[in-house]
Amino acid sequence: QEDIFKNVVSHAKEYGFIFPSSEVYDGLSAVYDYAQNGVELKKNIREYWWKAMVQMNDNIVGLDAAILMHPTTWKASGHVDAFNDPLIDNKDSKKRYRADVLIEDYAEKLNQKAIKEIEKARVRFGDAFNEAEFVATNARVVEYKAKEREILERMARSLGNDDLADVKALIEELEIACPESGSRNWTEVKQFNLMFGTKLGASADSAMDLYLRPETAQGIFVNFLNVQKSGRMKVPFGIAQTGKAFRNEIVARQFIFRMREFEQMEMQFFVRPGEEMKHYEFWKEARLKWHLSLGLGRENYRFHDHEKLAHYANAAADIEFNFPFGFKELEGIHSRTDFDLKAHEQYSGRKLQYFDPELNENYVPYVVETSVGLDRMFLAVFATSLKEETLEDGSTRTVLKLPAVLAPTKAAVLPLVKKDGLPEIAHQIIADLKWDFNVAYDEKDAVGRRYRRQDALGTPFCITVDHQTVEDQTVTIRHRDTMKQDRVKIADLKSIIESEVSM
Ligand code: GAP
Repeated sequence: QEDIFKNVVSHAKEYGFIFPSSEVYDGLSAVYDYAQNGVELKKNIREYWWKAMVQMNDNIVGLDAAILMHPTTWKASGHVDAFNDPLIDNKDSKKRYRADVLIEDYAEKLNQKAIKEIEKARVRFGDAFNEAEFVATNARVVEYKAKEREILERMARSLGNDDLADVKALIEELEIACPESGSRNWTEVKQFNLMFGTKLGASADSAMDLYLRPETAQGIFVNFLNVQKSGRMKVPFGIAQTGKAFRNEIVARQFIFRMREFEQMEMQFFVRPGEEMKHYEFWKEARLKWHLSLGLGRENYRFHDHEKLAHYANAAADIEFNFPFGFKELEGIHSRTDFDLKAHEQYSGRKLQYFDPELNENYVPYVVETSVGLDRMFLAVFATSLKEETLEDGSTRTVLKLPAVLAPTKAAVLPLVKKDGLPEIAHQIIADLKWDFNVAYDEKDAVGRRYRRQDALGTPFCITVDHQTVEDQTVTIRHRDTMKQDRVKIADLKSIIESEVSM
C-alpha cells in the first residue's frame, strides 16, 4: 500500500499533475501546485460537481464569496473559540505533534511489534507453537505492549472527543502500568487554533486582524438574505460555492489529502425548521450517487455516521473513500440547524430571517450542508485510476484509467510519420476538434511509445493519421482502456469522442 501511494505521488509529478509548492526552495510543507495536466483534471472535477449541483437543480444557485471576511464572522461561527486541534510536545525531540495522530501511530507501531514477536516465535517453534500459551508466558514482550497499546488507544479516542481531563488521567495510568513507555517525555495536551491570521491595512495602529477563511460556508451564510432576495428564492433552496480554504494543519502528510491551502466545494441548503432530517437524508443519498456516477467502484465508498457532533450540528455523516492509506473522509454532510444564521444575527444585529409565504410566518431557516474537498476528490480519482497492467505479450503498461469525462486531454492526434503530409492532416483534425475538446498533438518517438505516454496521462483516445488517411479520409481511433483500434471517418470523430466524454 505504501508503494502504491509512492507511485501515485511520483506519477503525479512526472506527468505534470502535481508539484510541491515552491520546489526550488525545497517546497512548503502540505502546500502543492497543480501543473498543466492537474489543473485540467481539477477543473473538470469542479465542473462535474457544479453541473450536478447548480445547473441540474432549479433551486440551487452559485456564489463566489471573498476569501477575506470581516473578522467577526469567525467569532460568530465559533471558529475563533472552537476550531482547534489537540497538540502535544515531546520534551526530548522538542517536536510538536497532533496528539491524536501521534498516539494512534504509536499504538499501531506497538501492535506491529507485538505481532512481529509472535511471528518470530511461530517460525522458531514451528508446529509446536501455541499462540495463546506464548502470549501468556511472554507477558514481558507481548502483554506489556498490548497493555500500553490499549491505554494509548483510549487516549487517542479521548483526544478525538476533546476530553483533555481524561487524557491527563490516562497519561498517569500509562506511567504506572507501563513505566517504560516513554510517556513521561510528553507535555500536557494543548489546544491549537487552525486558522491562519493576516492583517488588513498599512499602519500598525489601524491594521485589522483578519483570518484566511477555514471553510467557504460562512461566505454563504452571511450572503443568505442577499441571494434569497435578489434571486427571489423560496425555501427550500441552496447556495453552492467552490473556493480556497486555509487551515494551519499540524499533521502535514499524505500528499494532497491534508493540505494547508485547499479547495472546498460546498452547498448550503436552507430548509424549514423541523424538516431538516428529510433533506439531510436526501442529500446523503444524492451525494453518494454523484460519487458513484464516476464509476470508481461501489466498494470504495462507505458512510460514517458521527456520534460526536460538531458544535453546530444535530446530525452529521461522512462519505469515506478507500484511499491508498485506507478509508478516510472525502465529503461531509451536516445538518447545521440554525446555528450559523442565528449567530450572525446575534453578532451583526441584523435580521437574517425568511418570510415563508405558504406558512405566512418569519423564521430563521435550518441548513443542511454538503462539503467535499476538491483536492481529496482529485486524490481519490487519480489514485484509483492509476493501474499497472500486464499485457498478453507479458509486457507491462502504466495506464491512468480516469473517468473519460474528467480526463485532462480527451484525444491525442498522432501522425504515423513526420512526412508525406500526415502532420498537416493531424493539425487540421486538431483545428476542428479543439473547439469542443482539449486535444494534443504528438509526433515524437514510435507510435507505440506515444500510445503509452497518452495512457499514462489518462487520454481516452488516440487518433492516428497514416497513409490510408490521405487516400480515404479515415483514421484509426484507439481506446485507452481496451487498446482496441477502429478505423473511422475523420468526419465522425467528434461524435465518437463526445459520446464518451460528455458530462
Ligand atoms: N463547512 C464544513 C466543513 O468545512 P470539514 O469536514 O471541516 O467541514 C469539509 O471539511 C471537507 O473539506 C472535508 O470532507 C475534506 O474533503 C475537505 N478538507 C478539510 N480539510 C482539508 C485539508 N486540510 N486538506 C484538504 N481537504 C480538506
